[in-house]
Amino acid sequence: MKGFVFDLDGVLADTAKYHYIAWKELAAEIGITIDEVFNEQLKGISRQESLERILEHGGKLGEFSEEVLAELAEKKNQQYVELLEELTPEDALPGVREFLAEARELNIPCTVASASKNAPFILDKLALSDQFVGIVDPASLTKGKPDPEIFIKAAELMKLQPSEVIGFEDAQAGIDGIKACGMYAVGIGESEQLIGADRLINDLSEITIEELICL
Ligand code: BG6
Ligand code: MG
Repeated sequence: MKGFVFDLDGVLADTAKYHYIAWKELAAEIGITIDEVFNEQLKGISRQESLERILEHGGKLGEFSEEVLAELAEKKNQQYVELLEELTPEDALPGVREFLAEARELNIPCTVASASKNAPFILDKLALSDQFVGIVDPASLTKGKPDPEIFIKAAELMKLQPSEVIGFEDAQAGIDGIKACGMYAVGIGESEQLIGADRLINDLSEITIEELICL
């Protein structure tokens, strides 16, 4: 194992909760109620696709023009970015800073594979930007998670084969993408939500680089 690829929301920082708050508010404005169980299927999914899933859930798919859909997605993002303003370096999840610093000491490259267009901004807020050799630009993708494209691109950024890389994810769509390109998958969170993960942990403080590179 020669490199690591990290999802961001829910892996490096607890920003998944802010996505949920912003979507819940936006959905309520158009008369749709979402709860945390439904929210699980939005994790790892792009902004536009998340909106479509919410509309489908509320039986309103096809009711809005492309223009209104873009406005709704923009409104959610504005609310989300407002919540992100509060982020500080202390908001990195447990073990993240130490894990990345150790990887750097050992010269093991790390990359970010997030569907979020806000990833560079969040990494800046967390003061973690310089710990990564690259961030895959989600705008460069033809398919989002669960397609493995984003993880294959992350491996390319490190000049590694996917089989030499370990991926960290908190979403089922992400675990599916990691496994589809032959990477080793570490799931962050509840086992019933992360089918197919090779290893499950609550956060990065529970695992050492030594045990991972021996895999
Ligand atoms: C993923 C999140 O990381 O990014 C999704 O898990 C989110 O919930 C997606 O919809 C897109 O994020 P953004 O910041 O571009 O709206
Ligand atoms: Mg995530």
